[in-house]
Amino acid sequence: ATIYVLNGPNLNMLGTREPETYGHATLADVEKLCVETAAQFGLTADCRQSNREGELIDFIHEAHARKVAGIIINAGAYSHTSIALHDALVAVKIPTVEVHISNVHARESFRHHSFTAMAAFASLCGFGIDGYRLAINGLAAKLGVKAK
Ligand code: DQA
Repeated sequence: ATIYVLNGPNLNMLGTREPETYGHATLADVEKLCVETAAQFGLTADCRQSNREGELIDFIHEAHARKVAGIIINAGAYSHTSIALHDALVAVKIPTVEVHISNVHARESFRHHSFTAMAAFASLCGFGIDGYRLAINGLAAKLGVKAK
């Protein structure tokens, strides 16, 4: 089975962007971690990044069309603003885990609410990029997929 790993705006800047908050790993490192973690469960991680809200919505619709088993999403700042992303996730009914690299609850109040978390079965934040690995483990458990 395939899962989608969707990263939103500014996450292409990982590694150089506010390293004190987001660490030194790059998006390529994150995607490698996701591919390797998914493979441990016999899952294929299809990783996408976009700085555009509409393109992220298109990825979610595509996930539905391709009958993907699950979604890991870090929608960046759109998490806090995008009712449209929320609605797309609700529409496709694909088991979804939200990830934030930073502990959004320890930061500005505008990061405390997440529309994408409302449409996910689980959300985790504050683990750095290891959150993606943890999220895939949790998604696999939810899907009833055992490690190979
Ligand atoms: C983020 C947290 C968001 O508040 C922020 O806008 C991001 C990254 C995180 O992974 O910690 O772009 O989603």
